[in-house]
Amino acid sequence: MKTFTEHLQDYTSFFNSRLPEYFPFSNGEENRVVEAMFYSVSNGGKRLRPFLVAQTAALFGIDKEESLPVAVSLECLHSYSLIHDDLPAMDNDTLRRGKPTCHIKFDEATAILAGDGLLTYAFEILNQPQYIPDSNIRSELSSLLAQSAGAFKGMVAGQMLDLYTEQNKVSDNQAETTIKHIEEMKTGCLLSYACEAGAILGKADFESRKKLIEYSRKIGIAFQIADDILDVEGNQTLVGKTLNKDADQGKLTFISIYGLEKAKKIEKELISEAKEIISSLAPDTTILQQLADFIIYRSK
Ligand code: IPE
Ligand code: IPE
Ligand code: MG
Ligand code: MG
Ligand code: MG
Repeated sequence: MKTFTEHLQDYTSFFNSRLPEYFPFSNGEENRVVEAMFYSVSNGGKRLRPFLVAQTAALFGIDKEESLPVAVSLECLHSYSLIHDDLPAMDNDTLRRGKPTCHIKFDEATAILAGDGLLTYAFEILNQPQYIPDSNIRSELSSLLAQSAGAFKGMVAGQMLDLYTEQNKVSDNQAETTIKHIEEMKTGCLLSYACEAGAILGKADFESRKKLIEYSRKIGIAFQIADDILDVEGNQTLVGKTLNKDADQGKLTFISIYGLEKAKKIEKELISEAKEIISSLAPDTTILQQLADFIIYRSK
């Protein structure tokens, strides 16, 4: 029987081998932006969001080939969020996925455009009938992705609040609700979208979809707590990012509020709740339960 790591590795190899099909290069000077897009989206990433799309869709009989365009679209959008997150005006990072960040490898203007390009391309992929023949599914996925990535209660809103709390002190009694809100939006929303997209593709029943959303909310917060813990305790070569940035930049995190030990306790509780929720689904959810554990025991 395959271990979880083998399942994830197999999927990552499949995903990485198919990704170039989505990036037609041209000969013009404008091709620089496509190169920057491909540079940022290719290799190095864990591909956890694509894997979540594939695994949740698989619960409802959709194979990885059929869910691939949705998985690629989400990884494009996620990679855009990383390019912009790394920009000097945001987290000012020089290392991403073990390589120079997009604005270091290319230049700042190209990195901004590469982010714009990946964001819009995510929706272009989702709206192609050759990839998703059912127009209702195309429209449902597009509108959910827009909300999840957006500025009202999605990833962009979370990023704004993340930057705001870096500059403005939040009162002690506001800190707990604020940090939960930040993590839910900046990271949780795209992980939730991954799970819900699988349910949409598979035309899941209401109850299953609801449980997938509940599961995704728990793993979403736990994922960001784990990211913040890796920033403190990780191995930089494995993580592929410059560490100790959060404290240096005065970020509000679960660790800055509760300390490392309590943050670890909270992420463990969230993961055990997520596993309990997902195990009550009718199809076999073993891999999704293992994925929940992977989120907090990962080294990158
Ligand atoms: C990093 O996401 C950004 C956060 C939301 C914490 P990942 O840890 O999934 O990054 P990659 O895709 O594996 O590089
Ligand atoms: C950012 O969180 C999450 C995004 C929406 C990109 P972080 O700023 O902690 O992510 P890393 O550590 O740079 O990957
Ligand atoms: Mg950030
Ligand atoms: Mg960052
Ligand atoms: Mg981080």
